[in-house]
Amino acid sequence: MSEAYVGLESVKWNNGQVDLLDQRLLPEEVVYLPLTTQKDVWEAIRHLKVRGAPAIGIAAAYGVVIASQQAATTEEWLDAVQQSAQYLATSRPTAVNLFWALDRMKAAADQFIAQGFSLADCKKALEQEAIAIQQQDEQTNRAIGEYALSLFKEDMGVLTHCNAGGLATAKYGTALAPFYIAKERGINLRVYADETRPVLQGARLTAFELQQAGVDVTLICDNMAGMVMSKGWVDAVIVGTDRVAANGDVANKIGTYSVAVLAKAHGIPFYVACPLSTIDLNTPTGAEIPIEERPDEEITEGFGKRTAPKGVKVYNPAFDVTPNEYVTGIITEKGIVTAPYEENLRKLFEQ
Ligand code: MRU
Repeated sequence: MSEAYVGLESVKWNNGQVDLLDQRLLPEEVVYLPLTTQKDVWEAIRHLKVRGAPAIGIAAAYGVVIASQQAATTEEWLDAVQQSAQYLATSRPTAVNLFWALDRMKAAADQFIAQGFSLADCKKALEQEAIAIQQQDEQTNRAIGEYALSLFKEDMGVLTHCNAGGLATAKYGTALAPFYIAKERGINLRVYADETRPVLQGARLTAFELQQAGVDVTLICDNMAGMVMSKGWVDAVIVGTDRVAANGDVANKIGTYSVAVLAKAHGIPFYVACPLSTIDLNTPTGAEIPIEERPDEEITEGFGKRTAPKGVKVYNPAFDVTPNEYVTGIITEKGIVTAPYEENLRKLFEQ
């Protein structure tokens, strides 16, 4: 069967520079921006040109390669790697994949030095490490998609929030991966995509990439999810995440918590799909996950049109935390984890 996925690559490594799909312009325009400095990469992450936890990590890993490629000695090179990892870590606070990818790049660099690599070999090997992060993400998402699809049956209605698709990752996505695999196998699933205020990742990105692949997708406003559930049209919810705490609390795009509460009220299972790199055993509970707050303008004049009075007080958290008791299962590349999360997430890493 031919592959259903026809998505655009969010991050392309092109001979020493990143060609980055500017996701702010989708679905209207497909524009790749050349990023040639670590500052370009930092700004692209901060301003959501690239977004989605795994894609941010991939872009940052290439940012480290870019920042260190002009070094003239191995000492200078290692210093550049460490400095740029520190700098890129300040671009956004919530998605742990960013810090995971940067730590992996730093650890790889230390290892190359310890092994006595020449400067040229250090540079080559670090570039390969970033490429491996991207390639492994694709394989990981395929595995997540297979596990997720095992939970769904022909003609089920599945609601998703934000964009945890190919655009947010190397390929396939996490929460959207099962829809691509279902399409390949001729299994029909009806997807409801929340538009996802205020930046509309659901409308601009999820609806776009699923529609491109021929998946049956219906766009709804966030405040319609309850009604759609009450009509019996939703059999399951699946979302991605930016960080899962050790106790199974889940940080994801603002509005996810409301969807989880609605799902519970309607007796609908609420699944979270993510790679192991999104699970942060060093953060004990959701209360310790740093939640990014974004500029007021995203709410008062999003997409260039003023929709609120000037000077009004605004609160704009980009993420919320869904307590673990609302989570039916966490779908990873190693299988589906259920409660008790504290114990079962730890076991997953010991396997
Ligand atoms: O602010 P964003 O667009 O980066 O938020 C993205 C999300 O919340 C995604 O659901 C999450 O990163 C998982 S992506 C596989």
